[in-house]
Amino acid sequence: MPWRIIMMAITAAVTCTSATFALAADGMRSLAHTAGIRFGTAVNVEALGTDAAYSKLLAREFDLVTPENAMKFSVIQPERGRFDFTQADALVAFAEARAMQVNGHVLVWDQQLPDWLTQGHFNSDELKAILREHIQTVVARYRGRVASWDVAAEAVGEDGKPRETFWSRGIGPDYLALAFRWAHAADPQARLRYNDYGGEGAGAKSDGIYTLVADLRTHRVPIDSVGLQMHVSLNDAPRPEDVRINMKRLAALGLQTDITEMDVMLSLPTSRAALRKQAVLYGAMLQACLTVPQCRSFSTWGATDRYSWVPEFFPGQGAALLFDASGHAKPAYWRIKRALRTEVSHKR
Ligand code: G3I
Repeated sequence: MPWRIIMMAITAAVTCTSATFALAADGMRSLAHTAGIRFGTAVNVEALGTDAAYSKLLAREFDLVTPENAMKFSVIQPERGRFDFTQADALVAFAEARAMQVNGHVLVWDQQLPDWLTQGHFNSDELKAILREHIQTVVARYRGRVASWDVAAEAVGEDGKPRETFWSRGIGPDYLALAFRWAHAADPQARLRYNDYGGEGAGAKSDGIYTLVADLRTHRVPIDSVGLQMHVSLNDAPRPEDVRINMKRLAALGLQTDITEMDVMLSLPTSRAALRKQAVLYGAMLQACLTVPQCRSFSTWGATDRYSWVPEFFPGQGAALLFDASGHAKPAYWRIKRALRTEVSHKR
């Protein structure tokens, strides 16, 4: 469906909803709010304009949204110097109309980069100028409207060493520090985050991320938080206790943490036993976040199995999220809700 039609549908939804929007008392977001954390999800912006049930579910359950793809480099700057904010604007307007916070994703990453950039054979100074313009143009546009940014993602390898990326090859190891400083200059109020996967608990990668962000702090780079992505499966997930310990040591550096992209992929077709185990894992990771005051938010990488990256990237796997493809809540949803209710009752 042409973007113009999708945009009209989203704008219409925004206009009508903002007048009638009321916080659904039974949604997860109000409970999470009372428990003291933001409850978030990645959003497929294309579906916002075409799937009314999806928009309704998002507004009822979540008070924090991250664009799954709409703010990535190749989408925002498809040609050098030509910025396309159509999708990003749509998401920010959708969120504002529903009192949701927006997390921008992602300014510096080595995937979803446009060909003009990766095949441009730019030298280091040219690449610095390009990255600076990109970051400052994007962050300045949403100054005061986007609360936090994933400034950089996935710059540490499985061995804990800095990964060689398009940006580290082109600019050098200081590209990360430069990116955080440029983002901070463009919006000094925005919370700036380093976001990664596979380093949520203990191990070489977790230590590598710790060393990286500790070094940034030592050099007074304006970083506020570390995002723990948490893309896991039933047989491949960190121990919740190790996640809690990791969050604590990051807090000792003066850093907040967020669970940013949780999903628990299951082998298809799923079974009741697998769905129960999935619920236990979601509940345990939420609990880890609730026990660390510096853990500010808990987000899943998508709201419903209808829009999930997992089946495309992991054939035979799926059913990774809190709502099934028909929008029905799964055992994991109720498990999380129960954990939040317990937390709220303790606060009273
Ligand atoms: O938009 C194009 C469309 O025009 C084209 O017709 C279609 C067919 O090739 O591709 C579409 O682009 C796809 C894009 O998602 C939007 O749907 C890309 O091929 C596809 O690779 C891209 O996948 C995204 C992936 O990041 C890219 O690596 C996933 O949706 C997204 O969920 C995933 O998210 C990442 C986070 O940003 C960072 N952390 C890990 C996470 C999972 O990989």
